[in-house]
Amino acid sequence: MTMHEDVAEVLLEASAIQHKVAEIGQAITRDYQGKDLGLICILKGAVVFMSDLIRHIQLPVTLDFMAISSYGAGTKSSGVVRILKDLDHPIEGQHILIVEDIVDTGLTLRYLVENLRSRRPASLKVCTLLDKPSRRRVECVPDYNGFQIPDCFVVGYGLDYNERYRNLPYIGVLKPEVYQRG
Ligand code: IMP
Ligand code: MG
Repeated sequence: MTMHEDVAEVLLEASAIQHKVAEIGQAITRDYQGKDLGLICILKGAVVFMSDLIRHIQLPVTLDFMAISSYGAGTKSSGVVRILKDLDHPIEGQHILIVEDIVDTGLTLRYLVENLRSRRPASLKVCTLLDKPSRRRVECVPDYNGFQIPDCFVVGYGLDYNERYRNLPYIGVLKPEVYQRG
């Protein structure tokens, strides 16, 4: 049984993702011209996106990582956000860009933006690969976003179901029986 057999439908091909990530990197390069940029990767889902994205940003960048939990093992947001790993370094006075895999209800990003804003960065923006606008519970509009997708649970390119499928090079929808297996 391979991972690929669990996928019902490929939503975004690897080549389409790569093309979009390059475009986002170019936009960030233009927008932050003459500045240093601090990128904050939200573990673990954004790690694949982040590592591709930074190679398309032609600026002096620093990287830091934050891990939070918003979902348990399932596919529904609990609304409870907890910091599992905080940043290694202060961000005061720096231009900061949060790099996140997906904005769904918006609860995670709202918490993150409020939390990081209180640390007084010079500027704070949000970059997401995917956006599911139909599921929003609190207002949250990413400054950069790759793709808007319909209301379905997706895996691959960093995104998981029960910690699996992060290594798929494309983004796909799982077969219903995968969830029934638990
Ligand atoms: P939010 O707080 O509801 O916006 O959820 C954001 C987090 O939920 C993301 O960082 C993901 O880890 C996770 N998430 C939301 N939708 C999906 C999905 O379709 N597949 C995998 N993870 C998801
Ligand atoms: Mg997850």
